[in-house]
Amino acid sequence: MSLVASIMKSLNRSHFKTLLIMERLHLRYEYIPVEVLAKHARANTDDLLKDLDELHRLGLVSRRKQEYLGYSLKQYGRDALALKYLVDHGVLDAVGLKIAVGKEADVYDGLSPSGHRVAVKFHRVGRQSFRQTRRLRDYGEHHSWYKQSCIAARREYQALELLYASGVKAPKPVAYNRHVDVMEVIIGDPLYVVTDLPNPFETFSRVIDNVKRAYRDASIIHADLSEFNVIVKPDFEVMIIDWPQWVPRTHVRGSEYLKRDVTNICNFFKRRFGLNVDVEGILRDIKG
Ligand SMILES: Nc1ncnc2c1ncn2[C@@H]1O[C@H](COP(=O)(O)OP(=O)(O)O)[C@@H](O)[C@H]1O
Ligand SMILES: [Mg+2]
Repeated sequence: MSLVASIMKSLNRSHFKTLLIMERLHLRYEYIPVEVLAKHARANTDDLLKDLDELHRLGLVSRRKQEYLGYSLKQYGRDALALKYLVDHGVLDAVGLKIAVGKEADVYDGLSPSGHRVAVKFHRVGRQSFRQTRRLRDYGEHHSWYKQSCIAARREYQALELLYASGVKAPKPVAYNRHVDVMEVIIGDPLYVVTDLPNPFETFSRVIDNVKRAYRDASIIHADLSEFNVIVKPDFEVMIIDWPQWVPRTHVRGSEYLKRDVTNICNFFKRRFGLNVDVEGILRDIKG
Protein backbone atom coordinates (compact mmCIF):
# COMPACT_ATOMS: atom_id res chain seq x y z
CA MET A 1 0.00 0.00 0.00
CA SER A 2 1.28 3.48 -0.82
CA LEU A 3 1.85 6.20 1.73
CA VAL A 4 -1.12 8.12 0.38
CA ALA A 5 -3.37 5.09 0.67
CA SER A 6 -2.31 4.34 4.23
CA ILE A 7 -2.81 7.96 5.23
CA MET A 8 -6.33 7.88 3.80
CA LYS A 9 -7.14 4.79 5.84
CA SER A 10 -6.05 6.47 9.08
CA LEU A 11 -8.44 9.41 8.73
CA ASN A 12 -11.97 9.66 10.10
CA ARG A 13 -14.82 12.13 9.48
CA SER A 14 -13.64 14.45 12.16
CA HIS A 15 -10.14 14.65 10.65
CA PHE A 16 -11.57 15.51 7.24
CA LYS A 17 -13.83 18.13 8.76
CA THR A 18 -10.81 19.76 10.39
CA LEU A 19 -8.83 19.65 7.12
CA LEU A 20 -11.73 21.23 5.22
CA ILE A 21 -12.08 24.05 7.71
CA MET A 22 -8.35 24.66 7.55
CA GLU A 23 -8.49 24.85 3.78
CA ARG A 24 -11.15 27.56 4.00
CA LEU A 25 -9.36 29.53 6.71
CA HIS A 26 -6.13 29.55 4.71
CA LEU A 27 -7.70 32.30 2.63
CA ARG A 28 -7.13 34.51 5.67
CA TYR A 29 -4.29 32.90 7.62
CA GLU A 30 -1.03 31.27 6.76
CA TYR A 31 -0.96 29.60 10.17
CA ILE A 32 -4.45 29.28 11.58
CA PRO A 33 -4.73 30.05 15.30
CA VAL A 34 -6.14 27.12 17.25
CA GLU A 35 -8.82 29.35 18.80
CA VAL A 36 -10.08 30.39 15.37
CA LEU A 37 -10.12 26.78 14.24
CA ALA A 38 -12.04 25.70 17.33
CA LYS A 39 -14.64 28.41 16.76
CA HIS A 40 -15.22 27.40 13.14
CA ALA A 41 -15.17 23.69 13.92
CA ARG A 42 -17.65 24.21 16.76
CA ALA A 43 -15.59 21.68 18.65
CA ASN A 44 -14.10 21.85 22.09
CA THR A 45 -10.42 22.69 22.01
CA ASP A 46 -9.31 19.41 23.57
CA ASP A 47 -10.98 17.28 20.88
CA LEU A 48 -9.65 19.56 18.17
CA LEU A 49 -6.12 19.40 19.57
CA LYS A 50 -6.32 15.62 19.60
CA ASP A 51 -7.28 15.60 15.91
CA LEU A 52 -4.57 18.12 15.08
CA ASP A 53 -2.00 16.02 16.94
CA GLU A 54 -2.89 13.01 14.81
CA LEU A 55 -2.88 15.03 11.58
CA HIS A 56 0.51 16.38 12.61
CA ARG A 57 1.86 12.92 13.37
CA LEU A 58 0.69 11.73 9.92
CA GLY A 59 2.45 14.69 8.28
CA LEU A 60 -0.72 16.37 6.98
CA VAL A 61 -0.38 19.64 8.88
CA SER A 62 2.46 21.68 10.29
CA ARG A 63 2.50 23.46 13.62
CA ARG A 64 3.97 26.78 14.63
CA LYS A 65 4.31 28.10 18.15
CA GLN A 66 5.50 31.64 17.74
CA GLU A 67 3.22 34.53 18.65
CA TYR A 68 0.42 32.01 18.83
CA LEU A 69 -0.18 28.27 18.38
CA GLY A 70 -1.17 27.81 14.75
CA TYR A 71 -1.57 25.06 12.19
CA SER A 72 -1.10 24.95 8.44
CA LEU A 73 -2.02 22.38 5.80
CA LYS A 74 0.88 20.52 4.25
CA GLN A 75 1.02 18.80 0.88
CA TYR A 76 -0.33 15.48 2.16
CA GLY A 77 -3.20 17.29 3.87
CA ARG A 78 -4.18 18.85 0.55
CA ASP A 79 -3.75 15.49 -1.19
CA ALA A 80 -6.07 13.87 1.34
CA LEU A 81 -8.79 16.47 0.68
CA ALA A 82 -8.64 15.99 -3.08
CA LEU A 83 -8.67 12.20 -2.77
CA LYS A 84 -11.58 12.31 -0.36
CA TYR A 85 -13.56 14.39 -2.85
CA LEU A 86 -12.79 11.98 -5.68
CA VAL A 87 -13.71 8.96 -3.56
CA ASP A 88 -16.97 10.58 -2.37
CA HIS A 89 -17.90 11.46 -5.96
CA GLY A 90 -17.53 7.91 -7.23
CA VAL A 91 -14.37 8.59 -9.25
CA LEU A 92 -11.82 6.65 -7.22
CA ASP A 93 -11.93 3.57 -5.11
CA ALA A 94 -8.29 3.22 -4.20
CA VAL A 95 -4.87 4.71 -4.78
CA GLY A 96 -1.95 2.37 -5.26
CA LEU A 97 1.73 2.80 -5.87
CA LYS A 98 3.54 5.75 -7.36
CA ILE A 99 4.04 5.21 -11.09
CA ALA A 100 6.35 8.13 -11.70
CA VAL A 101 7.79 11.31 -10.30
CA GLY A 102 7.90 14.01 -12.94
CA LYS A 103 9.22 17.52 -13.02
CA GLU A 104 6.06 19.00 -11.62
CA ALA A 105 3.83 16.09 -10.70
CA ASP A 106 3.63 12.78 -8.85
CA VAL A 107 1.62 10.15 -10.68
CA TYR A 108 -0.02 7.22 -8.88
CA ASP A 109 -1.83 4.11 -9.96
CA GLY A 110 -5.51 4.22 -9.02
CA LEU A 111 -8.61 2.07 -9.24
CA SER A 112 -12.07 3.30 -10.23
CA PRO A 113 -15.21 1.93 -8.52
CA SER A 114 -15.93 -0.10 -11.67
CA GLY A 115 -12.51 -1.72 -11.39
CA HIS A 116 -10.67 0.20 -14.10
CA ARG A 117 -7.08 1.29 -13.62
CA VAL A 118 -6.57 5.05 -13.74
CA ALA A 119 -3.65 7.42 -13.38
CA VAL A 120 -3.89 9.93 -10.52
CA LYS A 121 -1.72 12.96 -11.17
CA PHE A 122 -0.88 15.25 -8.24
CA HIS A 123 0.37 18.57 -9.61
CA ARG A 124 3.34 19.99 -7.71
CA VAL A 125 4.03 23.27 -9.47
CA GLY A 126 7.14 25.03 -8.23
CA ARG A 127 8.35 21.96 -6.39
CA GLN A 128 11.92 22.39 -7.57
CA SER A 129 12.23 26.05 -6.73
CA PHE A 130 10.37 25.43 -3.49
CA ARG A 131 12.90 22.81 -2.42
CA GLN A 132 15.83 25.06 -3.20
CA THR A 133 14.45 28.07 -1.40
CA ARG A 134 12.51 26.59 1.48
CA ARG A 135 15.17 27.60 3.98
CA LEU A 136 15.42 31.12 2.64
CA ARG A 137 11.88 32.10 1.99
CA ASP A 138 8.75 32.13 4.00
CA TYR A 139 6.82 28.89 4.21
CA GLY A 140 3.85 30.78 2.70
CA GLU A 141 5.41 30.04 -0.68
CA HIS A 142 3.80 26.63 -0.41
CA HIS A 143 0.33 28.15 -0.57
CA SER A 144 0.92 30.20 -3.69
CA TRP A 145 2.47 27.20 -5.46
CA TYR A 146 -0.54 25.20 -4.37
CA LYS A 147 -2.86 27.64 -6.14
CA GLN A 148 -0.75 27.28 -9.28
CA SER A 149 -1.05 23.51 -8.98
CA CYS A 150 -4.85 23.77 -8.88
CA ILE A 151 -4.79 25.92 -12.01
CA ALA A 152 -2.50 23.38 -13.69
CA ALA A 153 -4.88 20.52 -12.86
CA ARG A 154 -7.88 22.39 -14.26
CA ARG A 155 -6.01 23.42 -17.39
CA GLU A 156 -4.78 19.92 -18.07
CA TYR A 157 -8.28 18.54 -17.63
CA GLN A 158 -9.64 21.10 -20.13
CA ALA A 159 -6.97 20.16 -22.63
CA LEU A 160 -7.62 16.43 -22.26
CA GLU A 161 -11.33 17.00 -22.87
CA LEU A 162 -10.68 19.01 -26.04
CA LEU A 163 -8.14 16.44 -27.25
CA TYR A 164 -10.39 13.50 -26.51
CA ALA A 165 -13.23 15.10 -28.48
CA SER A 166 -10.86 15.52 -31.42
CA GLY A 167 -9.44 12.01 -31.31
CA VAL A 168 -5.91 13.09 -30.43
CA LYS A 169 -3.88 10.33 -28.75
CA ALA A 170 -3.76 11.66 -25.21
CA PRO A 171 -5.01 10.13 -21.93
CA LYS A 172 -8.79 10.09 -21.67
CA PRO A 173 -9.86 12.49 -18.90
CA VAL A 174 -11.89 11.09 -16.01
CA ALA A 175 -12.18 13.89 -13.43
CA TYR A 176 -10.25 16.52 -11.53
CA ASN A 177 -10.40 18.14 -8.14
CA ARG A 178 -8.18 20.78 -6.55
CA HIS A 179 -4.62 19.96 -7.73
CA VAL A 180 -5.35 16.40 -8.86
CA ASP A 181 -6.25 14.98 -12.29
CA VAL A 182 -7.62 11.50 -12.83
CA MET A 183 -7.11 10.09 -16.32
CA GLU A 184 -6.64 6.96 -18.32
CA VAL A 185 -3.46 5.14 -17.38
CA ILE A 186 -1.03 4.66 -20.26
CA ILE A 187 1.15 1.57 -20.32
CA GLY A 188 4.36 2.02 -22.25
CA ASP A 189 7.81 3.60 -22.26
CA PRO A 190 8.54 7.28 -22.40
CA LEU A 191 10.06 8.06 -25.80
CA TYR A 192 13.39 9.22 -24.31
CA VAL A 193 14.21 5.69 -23.09
CA VAL A 194 13.28 4.02 -26.40
CA THR A 195 16.37 2.98 -28.36
CA ASP A 196 14.82 0.45 -30.70
CA LEU A 197 11.94 1.10 -33.06
CA PRO A 198 10.87 -1.09 -35.97
CA ASN A 199 10.13 2.01 -38.00
CA PRO A 200 11.39 5.29 -36.49
CA PHE A 201 9.93 7.39 -39.29
CA GLU A 202 6.47 5.94 -38.70
CA THR A 203 6.68 6.69 -34.96
CA PHE A 204 7.88 10.20 -35.74
CA SER A 205 4.99 10.67 -38.17
CA ARG A 206 2.49 9.53 -35.55
CA VAL A 207 3.74 12.09 -33.07
CA ILE A 208 3.58 14.85 -35.68
CA ASP A 209 0.16 13.69 -36.82
CA ASN A 210 -1.15 14.13 -33.28
CA VAL A 211 0.44 17.56 -32.97
CA LYS A 212 -1.35 18.44 -36.20
CA ARG A 213 -4.68 17.09 -35.07
CA ALA A 214 -4.39 18.94 -31.74
CA TYR A 215 -3.61 22.14 -33.65
CA ARG A 216 -6.23 21.81 -36.35
CA ASP A 217 -9.12 20.00 -34.69
CA ALA A 218 -8.75 20.88 -31.01
CA SER A 219 -7.11 24.28 -31.73
CA ILE A 220 -4.46 23.77 -29.09
CA ILE A 221 -0.67 23.69 -28.87
CA HIS A 222 1.09 21.54 -26.27
CA ALA A 223 3.88 24.06 -25.57
CA ASP A 224 6.05 21.62 -23.54
CA LEU A 225 6.44 18.82 -26.04
CA SER A 226 9.60 16.71 -26.07
CA GLU A 227 10.65 13.06 -25.88
CA PHE A 228 9.82 13.23 -22.15
CA ASN A 229 6.12 13.77 -22.78
CA VAL A 230 5.52 11.11 -25.41
CA ILE A 231 4.77 7.53 -24.37
CA VAL A 232 5.31 4.66 -26.81
CA LYS A 233 2.89 1.79 -26.16
CA PRO A 234 3.85 -1.88 -26.64
CA ASP A 235 2.03 -1.84 -30.00
CA PHE A 236 4.10 1.27 -30.99
CA GLU A 237 1.10 3.56 -30.83
CA VAL A 238 2.12 6.90 -29.33
CA MET A 239 0.40 8.98 -26.66
CA ILE A 240 1.13 12.60 -25.83
CA ILE A 241 0.94 13.42 -22.11
CA ASP A 242 1.50 16.38 -19.76
CA TRP A 243 -0.72 19.19 -21.08
CA PRO A 244 -1.14 21.80 -18.28
CA GLN A 245 0.81 24.48 -20.13
CA TRP A 246 -1.13 24.22 -23.42
CA VAL A 247 -2.08 27.40 -25.25
CA PRO A 248 -4.86 28.04 -27.76
CA ARG A 249 -3.85 28.16 -31.41
CA THR A 250 -4.67 31.89 -31.38
CA HIS A 251 -2.18 32.66 -28.58
CA VAL A 252 0.17 35.54 -29.49
CA ARG A 253 3.17 33.26 -29.07
CA GLY A 254 1.43 30.21 -30.51
CA SER A 255 3.66 29.99 -33.58
CA GLU A 256 6.76 30.16 -31.45
CA TYR A 257 5.54 27.36 -29.12
CA LEU A 258 4.45 25.16 -31.99
CA LYS A 259 7.85 25.58 -33.61
CA ARG A 260 9.64 24.73 -30.39
CA ASP A 261 7.46 21.61 -29.90
CA VAL A 262 8.09 20.38 -33.42
CA THR A 263 11.80 21.20 -33.26
CA ASN A 264 12.22 19.22 -30.04
CA ILE A 265 10.64 16.16 -31.63
CA CYS A 266 12.64 16.53 -34.86
CA ASN A 267 15.90 16.95 -32.95
CA PHE A 268 15.25 13.87 -30.86
CA PHE A 269 14.56 11.65 -33.88
CA LYS A 270 17.58 13.09 -35.64
CA ARG A 271 19.87 12.47 -32.68
CA ARG A 272 18.62 9.01 -31.77
CA PHE A 273 17.53 7.53 -35.08
CA GLY A 274 19.39 9.61 -37.66
CA LEU A 275 16.16 10.86 -39.21
CA ASN A 276 16.51 13.90 -41.41
CA VAL A 277 13.41 16.02 -41.42
CA ASP A 278 12.58 19.52 -42.50
CA VAL A 279 11.12 21.44 -39.55
CA GLU A 280 9.82 24.31 -41.68
CA GLY A 281 8.10 21.93 -44.08
CA ILE A 282 6.42 20.11 -41.23
CA LEU A 283 5.28 23.37 -39.67
CA ARG A 284 3.77 24.48 -42.99
CA ASP A 285 1.98 21.15 -43.25
CA ILE A 286 0.59 21.39 -39.69
CA LYS A 287 -0.67 24.93 -40.22
CA GLY A 288 -2.13 23.99 -43.60
N1 LIG B 1 -1.78 8.94 -17.90
C1 LIG B 1 -0.61 8.41 -17.51
N2 LIG B 1 -0.43 7.07 -17.52
C2 LIG B 1 0.75 6.54 -17.13
N3 LIG B 1 1.82 7.25 -16.73
C3 LIG B 1 1.70 8.59 -16.70
C4 LIG B 1 0.50 9.24 -17.11
N4 LIG B 1 0.67 10.57 -17.00
C5 LIG B 1 1.93 10.73 -16.55
N5 LIG B 1 2.57 9.56 -16.36
C6 LIG B 1 3.96 9.34 -15.88
O1 LIG B 1 4.27 10.35 -14.94
C7 LIG B 1 5.35 11.16 -15.39
C8 LIG B 1 5.10 12.62 -15.02
O2 LIG B 1 3.89 13.06 -15.60
P1 LIG B 1 3.80 14.33 -16.54
O3 LIG B 1 2.38 14.45 -16.96
O4 LIG B 1 4.80 14.24 -17.64
O5 LIG B 1 4.12 15.54 -15.54
P2 LIG B 1 5.49 16.36 -15.26
O6 LIG B 1 6.53 15.96 -16.26
O7 LIG B 1 5.10 17.80 -15.39
O8 LIG B 1 5.85 16.04 -13.86
C9 LIG B 1 5.42 10.92 -16.88
O9 LIG B 1 6.70 11.10 -17.37
C10 LIG B 1 4.97 9.48 -17.00
O10 LIG B 1 6.04 8.60 -16.72
MG1 LIG C 1 6.35 15.50 -18.19
